[in-house]
Amino acid sequence: MGTKKSVSVLGLGRMGSALANALVGEGYEVLVWNRSADKATPVGAKRVGTPEEAFAAEVVVACLTNYDVLRPLLGNEIRTLVNLTSGTPQEARETARWAREHGVEYVDGVIMAVPQQIGTPGARVLFDGSENHHVLGAFGEPVYVGAEAGLAATYDLALLGVMWSVFGGYLQATALMEAAGVSPERFTPLVGDWLAEVGAMLPEMGQEVRRNDYETDVSAVDINVAGLRMLTEASREQGLDTALPQALHGLFLRAQQAGHGQHSVASVIEVIRK
Ligand SMILES: NC(=O)c1ccc[n+]([C@@H]2O[C@H](COP(=O)([O-])OP(=O)(O)OC[C@H]3O[C@@H](n4cnc5c(N)ncnc54)[C@H](OP(=O)(O)O)[C@@H]3O)[C@@H](O)[C@H]2O)c1
Repeated sequence: MGTKKSVSVLGLGRMGSALANALVGEGYEVLVWNRSADKATPVGAKRVGTPEEAFAAEVVVACLTNYDVLRPLLGNEIRTLVNLTSGTPQEARETARWAREHGVEYVDGVIMAVPQQIGTPGARVLFDGSENHHVLGAFGEPVYVGAEAGLAATYDLALLGVMWSVFGGYLQATALMEAAGVSPERFTPLVGDWLAEVGAMLPEMGQEVRRNDYETDVSAVDINVAGLRMLTEASREQGLDTALPQALHGLFLRAQQAGHGQHSVASVIEVIRK
């Protein structure tokens, strides 16, 4: 064991195990607790039988399924809680309030990585609350997003929202190509290049959103409504599910109906903002 802080990890699921292993690798004295006995104890860590025993460590890292699991496990003997359990911004705020009321230092973090990336520079951990990131450096690159509780959880859901939209769009497209006899292996490389081009458009879109300025000589909402109707029809013709293109068509259509037909795609945010 090194001379570093003692750290407990509550939860030895896929992510919790990776976190505990990374802490051991960094020379922390690591205590671990898990509800069921079937999860292996990371080599170099010490297993404890109750969450209360885990609170003896200077820092308690919690990585559990959700806040419903986390809440009943918390105790005011904890000195510093680094909560890496995913949840809504409201759940993060409530836990921050609980921590304040019980004199517990609180860091709320979200892991933008899969377990296999933990401990590598590619793993970003966004966090709010206390500016001291404590042990987060062992997991990857800590990125402080601000003091306000719930901010990291908001970033998490916002970034995952982009990811899920891309995954959904990719799977719809792949099903459409499959129905046309084109394999995912043949189609996917084109998607990678296309995503890079689409990604390059986002800074400009972000500026339009910030300025509420939707003048465009590139691509207007009208033409995108027509395109989304075609995508919906093409999916239907192939007997595919149309929920996703229909939802997007509906969203863009409402922007068109609100008078944004000749405005840029960024104007769709006016419908989303309500
Ligand atoms: N995996 C990822 O790629 C990833 C990426 C970013 C963030 N996260 C977040 O990390 C958190 C953990 O994810 P995971 O992938 O590690 O999940 P997981 O493999 O399903 O592990 C869930 C953990 O929660 C524990 N748990 C569940 N219900 C419990 C209960 N009623 N009482 C006590 N403990 C309970 C499990 O204990 P048992 O072993 O006893 O069931 C296990 O330790 C989630 O909030 C997830 O969103 C995960």
